[in-house]
Amino acid sequence: MKLTLRVWRQKNADADGAMSTYEVDGISADMSFLEMLDTLNEELILAGDDPVAFDHDCREGICGACSLVINGDAHGPERTTTCQLHMRSFRDGDTIDVEPWRAAAFPVVKDLVVDRSAFDRIIQAGGYITAPTGAAPEAHATPVPKPDADSAFEHAECIGCGACVAACPNGAAMLFTSAKINHLNVLPQGAPERETRVLDMVGQMDEEGFGGCTLTGECATACPKGIPLFSITAMNKEWLRATRRAGRR
Ligand code: FES
Repeated sequence: MKLTLRVWRQKNADADGAMSTYEVDGISADMSFLEMLDTLNEELILAGDDPVAFDHDCREGICGACSLVINGDAHGPERTTTCQLHMRSFRDGDTIDVEPWRAAAFPVVKDLVVDRSAFDRIIQAGGYITAPTGAAPEAHATPVPKPDADSAFEHAECIGCGACVAACPNGAAMLFTSAKINHLNVLPQGAPERETRVLDMVGQMDEEGFGGCTLTGECATACPKGIPLFSITAMNKEWLRATRRAGRR
């Protein structure tokens, strides 16, 4: 395949960015999108140019590091991570726009790399349990109803890639935050911090400058792990319960 790439290039956080156009040839339909970018970078390096900076790590769809807006869609045309997107989703001769996540709370560091440390700070605010660590406890010591276990697993699938924020017209982080709250709040192990967790994590999310949620649902549509939209309404319910019990309203 021969492709025309229009790629966002930006030297650093303070520089102005712009789209640059590149031609790549010899792209196999079996290559991943990141392997296609590797091919472009090999050519840029051989020509003595600065390669395109982009985030990646596992390349297996599990770490959440890869993060590209491809032709206007977070992670591109398939419901998967960028690293699991393959070039068979495109046609010979296509022009493809490649941009970083666009959100005020995710400033561009360089080219296609954005700073997602706001997510880390939301997790630090309450995405943990205070149960003592040590040897694995006897599994039957803390019974968990099957529906609660299934719900916890469903929310725990969030890999924190930030596609929900990138897809949201408001730049909201409600889907991410709700997944991280709900996966602990539905389990008995998460019960001791149930109220402080939701209050502190939502408070941190607001401090980080993410937009407000208007339930447009773009986040759930873009999520490569299928975190459902009702995760947000479940979090709102937890938040109302916590504020009432804390007498904060
Ligand atoms: S590089 Fe790990 S999910 Fe894509």
